[in-house]
Amino acid sequence: MADGEYGGATVEGNLKKNVARRIARLTGEDASLVESRFEVPRDRGHGDLALPCFFLARTMRKDPSRIAAGLAEDLEGTIPGVSFEAAGPYLNLRIDAMLKTSEVLEAVRCGGTAFGRVPGWDGKTVVIDFSHPNIAKPFGVGHLRSTVIGNALANLYAFLGARVVKINHLGDWGKQFGLLDVAYRLWGDEGKLDEDPIMHLYELYVRINKRIEEGDADLDEQGREAFRRLEQGEEEYVRRWKLFRDLSVREFKRVYARLEISFDSYKGEAFFNERMKETIERMRKAGILVRSEGADVVDLRDEELGVAIIRKSNGSTTYLTRDVAAAEYRYETYGFDRMLYVVGQPQELHFKQLFAILRRMGYPWVERMEHVRFGYIKGMSTRRGTIVFLDDVLDEAKERVLKKMEGLYIQKVKEEERERIAEEIGITAVVFSDLKNRRIKDVEFDWDRILSLQGDTGPYLQSVLARIYGIFRKVGDPPSGGVDYSLLGEEKARELVDLLGLFPAAVEEAAREREPSVLTGYLLKLAASFHSAYTVLPVKGSEENVARARLRLFDCVRQVFENGFRILGFRIVREM
Ligand code: ARG
Repeated sequence: MADGEYGGATVEGNLKKNVARRIARLTGEDASLVESRFEVPRDRGHGDLALPCFFLARTMRKDPSRIAAGLAEDLEGTIPGVSFEAAGPYLNLRIDAMLKTSEVLEAVRCGGTAFGRVPGWDGKTVVIDFSHPNIAKPFGVGHLRSTVIGNALANLYAFLGARVVKINHLGDWGKQFGLLDVAYRLWGDEGKLDEDPIMHLYELYVRINKRIEEGDADLDEQGREAFRRLEQGEEEYVRRWKLFRDLSVREFKRVYARLEISFDSYKGEAFFNERMKETIERMRKAGILVRSEGADVVDLRDEELGVAIIRKSNGSTTYLTRDVAAAEYRYETYGFDRMLYVVGQPQELHFKQLFAILRRMGYPWVERMEHVRFGYIKGMSTRRGTIVFLDDVLDEAKERVLKKMEGLYIQKVKEEERERIAEEIGITAVVFSDLKNRRIKDVEFDWDRILSLQGDTGPYLQSVLARIYGIFRKVGDPPSGGVDYSLLGEEKARELVDLLGLFPAAVEEAAREREPSVLTGYLLKLAASFHSAYTVLPVKGSEENVARARLRLFDCVRQVFENGFRILGFRIVREM
């Protein structure tokens, strides 16, 4: 695919290709290899691009510093607006600021909503397993994190042109459904179930477990019996199980819609439970199943992964077995290039076991699977206490924003718009707080902090966008035609341009590392740069051409912000 088709074809990208071709001619090395070796110097004082010359030493049989010096001399003056300089074994390239400004801003303008789209993922199939709550158990903070991170990754790969398959591997099977069935028959209420199924089922689950804990062994036995009947497919039991599941899924969908999240599949554990026989048979054929105390296990001790239970002595299968079947099914169905499990750190062993088993079954595609881990959220609670339901978190965020609007947030927002804007700010605050740090780190959750307009917060980022739209409202729409980029010579303008040019690199890194925090970090930097720029680069009262150029610059900031927001799942509000 031609580079021009990507919104990420920036001045650096084009330059790399161009220079690599020239170096290939000078050295006899392969051009695409040379192109792949360019780096962006950490200290931009060293230039815009650098080529470490070590890799050329082998074929050229020369010291890397001498190679760098020779190349600098040969290349200087060959590309207008670009200067070459050797620094030890590095060949540094510097792009003339003016050239850079026009190239970067034109790339943003032409790229539009696709600016930042870097190559590597186009047409690839990426399956993402995320959110995956358990029916009748609380939607925990772990599920919240998985939902937010998984959605950002799904948006990211879709942005990069991948076919993304979003899977909600529901926890809809297991002996809790036997207990639930008993509890529903004892205390269930059809009306409540219909109205708030997630809460009602959860209450029933808590109630029956409490009774059992208090010593009611009979209920426990009834639960086991009910699950046995369910497993055997007794109609009445299956019908109730299906009702619980359907109503819960309906409710989940409603809440996901608030976050603009949808799934391609809700096939959960129950679905794979039915495919267990063939899967276990394949394991047996692969010769990896061992009998141990009446159970079927895979002995992974030589990999220090313990003994994995595939089928318990009572005949029932496990969470792990269902995941083996799910992996096979997904490969058959989607033929994925990448399969990501967005699941918390505590399940690390589970996924190591899963991958080890698939490897022993002889599936080469196991190397395409990854456990995308994350840490805990600490300190999150809502009015209902520390048990967190997603819907409650979003409601609470919204309510708190509404309260704050009377104080902190700008009050100009029309009454009838307030509810909507409060929802959008609240959602962004919650999502941002999750995506702010590297995912493996724990999240410290504090309502006041995440809703603040100051510091590293979602509302702070939103306020930048609202400010840019405010400028457009005041002085008019940004120009659509040509602009004199030489009027953007101020240091603050150049800094901003420099950062805009780095967006594709941030997208690339986020995609490579499965790390949305690279993008939140990038947007925070861009926000700070915008803040320090816009006061010294006024639009109103400036000469017409200067005003046009500045509006273009701010419009490019807006575009990059919006592209980042769409990927991360933040909401764009134009006033707040
Ligand atoms: N429902 C599970 C839990 O809450 C997470 C499922 C993760 N996905 C998977 N394929 N195992 O722990």
